[in-house]
Amino acid sequence: MTGARAAVGSTPPDAWHRGSTPASTIGPWLPDGALGDALADGLAAVEAALAAAVDNDHPFVREAAGHLMAAGGKRFRPLLALLAAQLGDPAAPEVVRAAVVCELTHLATLYHDDVMDEATVRRGAPSANSRWSNSVAILTGDLLFARASDLLADLGPEAVRIQARTFERLVTGQIRETVGAAPGDDPVAHYLDVLADKTGSLVATSARFGAAFAGVPAPLVAELTAFGEEVGVAFQLSDDLLDIVSADGSSGKEPGTDLREGIATLPVLFALAGDDPAEARLRELVSRPVTDDAEHAEALSLLRASTALVRATGVLRAYADRAQARLEAVPPGDVRDAFTALCDYVVTRSS
Ligand code: IPE
Ligand code: IPE
Ligand code: MG
Ligand code: MG
Repeated sequence: MTGARAAVGSTPPDAWHRGSTPASTIGPWLPDGALGDALADGLAAVEAALAAAVDNDHPFVREAAGHLMAAGGKRFRPLLALLAAQLGDPAAPEVVRAAVVCELTHLATLYHDDVMDEATVRRGAPSANSRWSNSVAILTGDLLFARASDLLADLGPEAVRIQARTFERLVTGQIRETVGAAPGDDPVAHYLDVLADKTGSLVATSARFGAAFAGVPAPLVAELTAFGEEVGVAFQLSDDLLDIVSADGSSGKEPGTDLREGIATLPVLFALAGDDPAEARLRELVSRPVTDDAEHAEALSLLRASTALVRATGVLRAYADRAQARLEAVPPGDVRDAFTALCDYVVTRSS
């Protein structure tokens, strides 16, 4: 790594102005120097292709489909694809297309997820379901899946199959999260499985596509895919922790949504499994959806001070460490350093 990217919210190097995504939303893990410039160029191409993919002849459809794309986001998945491609020929034309497919798929799942979670804010903007309606949000998500499929068709049947299986895992994870662990199942194992499916799957495929379409040798593609899976789970774990600890909405989402929706994330599961008398009130509060405002604030504050939160942070670190261990397969250099910085960012990120 040639130097740490400026902190979120600070002024980024000029290269980052080339794309239309505000650099401040991307995160501090990206490298400076020639690698940073190459990623900025790749991201600019991704942004242009994304804008084309959400365009539509009908003004309302165009507005709805472009709404979340224009609101920003970290572009984590396309950047991972672009970074993995740096280990081969990053100029291969399929690389940007594959990165766009991953972001479009992600974007579509956000439209649907906000319906499921009754979320009001996404990427700092009103969610599509709250701005228009559940029907508009669901159908717009479908439209984005259709656009992703259209681009995917040009990447060949193997890519179509990989994406189909990725999407199947993602949706399976969302369904299993919705219905919860079966009686007798370990709730923590269930939760970690859900995270691997709903988030690890697409992050893994982003790294895989970037590397494979750049012509990286198959054994290294497999290691990068495994890296993506582990770092993807870590990314979702840190997101679930941020839902509890971020008080200011800097995530662009409404903090505490999981508690309100009764989605038991890892700190809640650890709290429920504990027997510390000092956490009895916390257990009582989080054993059901916390919808009352005063109870919600109380539950958040108890969780923030809990041993359960510390334990969950330890699990996050373990996933990031496992991801990092996969990087031994990557030749030493600035690309490996950037992957390492990504692991650190996932543990320490605050938005
Ligand atoms: C949100 O993903 C859903 C999770 C998997 C945590 P991101 O955190 O990548 O969302 P954007 O793309 O930056 O909005
Ligand atoms: C995000 O899940 C959706 C997918 C990973 C498919 P969450 O519900 O946990 O994420 P946020 O907090 O809304 O972004
Ligand atoms: Mg959600
Ligand atoms: Mg959700």
